[in-house]
Amino acid sequence: MIDKEYLLSTIRDVPDFPKPGIVFKDITTLLNNAQAFTMLMEHLENRYKEYNLDFIAGIESRGFIFGAALATRLGIGFVPVRKKGKLPYTTVDEKYALEYGIDEIEIHIDAFRNKKDARVLLIDDLIATGGTAEAAAKLIKKVGANLLEACFIINLTFLHGEEKIKQHTNFYSVLEIA
Ligand code: PRP
Ligand code: ADE
Repeated sequence: MIDKEYLLSTIRDVPDFPKPGIVFKDITTLLNNAQAFTMLMEHLENRYKEYNLDFIAGIESRGFIFGAALATRLGIGFVPVRKKGKLPYTTVDEKYALEYGIDEIEIHIDAFRNKKDARVLLIDDLIATGGTAEAAAKLIKKVGANLLEACFIINLTFLHGEEKIKQHTNFYSVLEIA
């Protein structure tokens, strides 16, 4: 069973990173805690095992960790959504605004192996303003996949990213921080 209070207690606050005024939610202290990481992954596996997913798409960089772990638990493929200039093959890209800057992400044009209407779950560690997730959702649709849901370990509710991503797909977060 998931214990959300416990999971929240394993996430470390780092003030003024990467810029003054940002309280960074550090999930490395959840990842290096076997009890917490396993509890979280069991929860995600139970939620998504009935979704009949074809792929998990994870957002660089922390979305890779949860996305790849979930993909192997579900026995399906993993697709990286990466920062610009990192993917070697032909890509499509989207620009977006971040809580602390501007960035651009990409996906391979054949990321979902050209499977028609591939059933995809998007995952990241955290949603803040929702700009990154919105750009990733657009990319997944641009390459012809069926985005069923966007899943986040942490939702910073005071930044209302949820409203942005809900315009594109279903929304789910494990933990809320107000
Ligand atoms: C963080 C986080 C999300 C994004 C959320 O990643 O992991 O991907 O910010 O912000 P938003 O909802 O305001 O768009 P970051 O861009 O810091 O990259 P990193 O994971 O590579 O450190
Ligand atoms: N991405 C955007 N805002 C963040 C925060 N406060 N902590 C961790 N990752 C973030």
